Amino acid sequence: MHATESLATHARVRIARPLVVGHRGACAYRPEHTIASYELAIDMGADLIEPDIVVTSDGALIARHENELSRTTDVATRPEFADRRTTRRVGRKRRTGWFAEDFTLAELRTLRAVERHPELRPLNTAYDGQFGVLTLEEVVELARRRSTPQRQVRVLAELKKPTWSAERGQPMTELVAAELRRLDAVAPDGTVVLQSFDTAGLRRLRADLGDDGPTMFQLVDITASDDHLLTNAGLRAVSTYAQGIAPSVHRILLRDEDGTMTGVSDLVSRAHSAGLRVVPWTLAAENAFLPRHLRSSDDPAAAGDGLGAARLLLALGVDGVITDNPDVVVAARAELEMPAPARSAA
Ligand code: G3P
Ligand code: CA
Repeated sequence: MHATESLATHARVRIARPLVVGHRGACAYRPEHTIASYELAIDMGADLIEPDIVVTSDGALIARHENELSRTTDVATRPEFADRRTTRRVGRKRRTGWFAEDFTLAELRTLRAVERHPELRPLNTAYDGQFGVLTLEEVVELARRRSTPQRQVRVLAELKKPTWSAERGQPMTELVAAELRRLDAVAPDGTVVLQSFDTAGLRRLRADLGDDGPTMFQLVDITASDDHLLTNAGLRAVSTYAQGIAPSVHRILLRDEDGTMTGVSDLVSRAHSAGLRVVPWTLAAENAFLPRHLRSSDDPAAAGDGLGAARLLLALGVDGVITDNPDVVVAARAELEMPAPARSAA
């Protein structure tokens, strides 16, 4: 196939049943990226679990949201690692802390995961210290172990800053490509689906793994610097290397600075016209993350109407939802699958 031809329209079909993606597992209920979080997401009915991937000093691929480790592990309390604390520019931001690329995998294995949002999710702190850091391989093994002939569980792996990583001497996309080959996970319908905000990184992976390589999603942030990806021409360009987009949910459910919903965009239908699937992030059911009319109170940690938000997205025709609360999106999807009389009675 010619490189400029749309991969998405070439051999892909629309997904009939919207996918539920467990964001960092089921991180509304367990500390993110732990085995307990991923297992719970699968128990709740997620079709995919979503690890973010960063690189260690010895080239291992691990599941952490960012390379700075102190928000989600106990590294700051470990005297043996006190001298690793440093300040570093990561992409556009300057950060102080402990960085995955300064630790070997063996060292990272000694850390314990902690809750990122103790103020919003205090119950999750009961699990602090119980679980360690996982590798991409271990997440893939989990998905395969939990798959059955009736239900394939897949991994939506997000590559964090692969170009920045390569500039520092760690060729992340090459490491990922080699690992996927080793794990026999390079087929379009294989265990692993890839996503990244880093367009150049995704293009490199497509060139490396080929048009018949893994399914890929272009992540799209709410920031203006990503606007070009969502013009009709931008969507067509994305479709030459990816099968879908994963936009911020605020690109679809529009809102003002106050959190009041102001309307919906036409992004889903325009992306579908370009042959791309649409799987937005991130639906979370606490008031802090919901549009104003779906909040239950002024308490940011209290549960709001996450089901209402999921219904809105599904009604707009998204192909899946990336969510901290897989149970909520599974419930909204089940409503769509009910026979009409049952639905109207519900
Ligand atoms: O999976 C999409 C979403 O995870 C992207 O944002 O920051 O949560 O990794 P972030
Ligand atoms: Ca992510």
